[in-house]
Amino acid sequence: MDKTKEEQLDNQQNKPLKEPTIWEEKGISRRDFIKFCTAMSAALALPVTFAPKIAQALDEIKRPTLVWLEFQDCAGNTEALLRATTPDVATLILDILSLDYHETIMAAAGHQAEEALNGVLRDQKGKYICVVEGSIPLRDDGIYCCIGGKSALSIAREVCGNAFATIAVGTCASYGGIPAAAPNPTGAVGVKDAVPGATVINLPGCPLNPDNLTATIVHYLTFGKLPETDSHGRPLFAYGKRIHDACERRSHFDAGQYVEIWGDSAHRNGHCLYKMGCKGPETYHNCPTQRYNMKTSWPVASGHGCVGCSEPNFWDTMSPFYKRLPNVPGFGIESTADKIGAGLAVATAAALTAHGVISAVKKDKDTDEKMEN
Ligand code: SF4
Ligand code: F3S
Repeated sequence: MDKTKEEQLDNQQNKPLKEPTIWEEKGISRRDFIKFCTAMSAALALPVTFAPKIAQALDEIKRPTLVWLEFQDCAGNTEALLRATTPDVATLILDILSLDYHETIMAAAGHQAEEALNGVLRDQKGKYICVVEGSIPLRDDGIYCCIGGKSALSIAREVCGNAFATIAVGTCASYGGIPAAAPNPTGAVGVKDAVPGATVINLPGCPLNPDNLTATIVHYLTFGKLPETDSHGRPLFAYGKRIHDACERRSHFDAGQYVEIWGDSAHRNGHCLYKMGCKGPETYHNCPTQRYNMKTSWPVASGHGCVGCSEPNFWDTMSPFYKRLPNVPGFGIESTADKIGAGLAVATAAALTAHGVISAVKKDKDTDEKMEN
């Protein structure tokens, strides 16, 4: 374990060493801990000077209780959490918090598991944090998702209704997500709609970025309140900016350099994916800066357009994924994409018919071949 300056000073003055913090007990060096706090202040869009305040809050922490509920979901957000890194964020979360109930990863099962949840409701009323993953079906009294003989709706009303706050992770828990896509057979909704009186913050995404969950919890632990949100209940630090405005391909958008067909030279050279249906101009999320998988990449960097997974009413409003958005403002030199390169224009998304799609693709293919020549 690294010795801090403070510890060395204590030694020089022959004072007893400070009690080891929870981090030191876990074998996390002071340097890594401070790096984590600095990364958190950056994730929260705070000046780097907030890092010591975060460090102090986490040093003094009294592990608050967290329960994690799963309803109509694919467990993708749990998977994302378990694979979090830089530093081992999952470990940090598990060490910061007392994770008393999580159906997928807890050792207990059956009545034992139910008792763990009942214990939290009994002893921690109004103090615990609830995380919800997955949507909640309302149709037919919520019978389409039941756990331990209770509907997801009744569990959510009881557990979220008595929590200090609920964090809806992923688009399904935030807004209904894929289960709520038309025709929405189960009447799926997000937590806020299922439990109207509860304090809910939404961290949409498919899956969420676990760094944003950690930052939200760190914000609560540091400042004693949830971060400021937009009108869709999303924290501004993570959803305050458009993908399009932080995208590394933006200069190509402004210069009129677009991918016209998958695998063309523009695609190989990292040009803009707008014409391939990228929904970055209408999507608010910090994917370009926060990134996924140890910060190595994000959808657009990997060569696919953003599909707008963090927006309300995803999937219905963001599909078809490969039709381009009409009327995107902000073209630099040229006024619209249609004016860039005669013959490259495709019909607007609203006007596209099946026949139109085929024609547009065929036209693009011909054009691409000409460009290649
Ligand atoms: Fe990036 Fe998509 Fe915007 Fe192009 S349209 S700059 S790929 S976000
Ligand atoms: Fe989703 Fe678009 Fe980010 S698809 S993960 S919001 S780049």
